[in-house]
Amino acid sequence: LRAITTELKSALQQYPNFPSEGILFEDFLPIFRNPDLFNKLVQAFKIHIEGTFPNTKVDYIVGLESRGFLFGPTLALALNAGFVPVRKPGKLPGKTFEASFTKEYGEDKFQIQADSIPAGANVIIVDDILATGGSAKAAIQLVEQLKGNILEINFVLELDFLKGREKLGYEVFTLLSGQAEKLN
Ligand code: PRP
Ligand code: MG
Repeated sequence: LRAITTELKSALQQYPNFPSEGILFEDFLPIFRNPDLFNKLVQAFKIHIEGTFPNTKVDYIVGLESRGFLFGPTLALALNAGFVPVRKPGKLPGKTFEASFTKEYGEDKFQIQADSIPAGANVIIVDDILATGGSAKAAIQLVEQLKGNILEINFVLELDFLKGREKLGYEVFTLLSGQAEKLN
């Protein structure tokens, strides 16, 4: 896993002062341009998840709009799990549940379809990056409302100085930063 994460990290492209002055943006889109790297990203998560939960069937990957949609469904397929999207308001038909969270400029909302996850199903929530943790916390509240059993929250990257993981209340795994350093 260490060799794979090193290769994936070297594919990240840094953009200083994007989206605003003083921010160093880590773009992970180059990974998806290369099918070998895209496959390695998915396999790395699969290795981590199967190693962490060897006797547990993952029933659903829940991905956050929109960058969590880039690899969530592919990871779900690799795990023989279903995929469920958490979306911005007004996009999902039928009965939905809603959770609010605070962004840099004001409030945002996420929704999930009320019938998307059966009570007790094992869920892993995925997104590209953990920053303040507001988005992930809202997704957690939605899965909890459906009585899904959250195993872990997985990210590709983490801005650990924002301490987002401290507000989530579940195990957090970040593939290309934080604890990924310690893996073999
Ligand atoms: C970004 C990123 C995460 C979230 C992290 O998404 O993709 O989803 O912010 O921030 P947080 O931990 O402070 O909540 P963004 O809302 O920019 O939208 P996008 O995924 O649709 O590009
Ligand atoms: Mg996002």
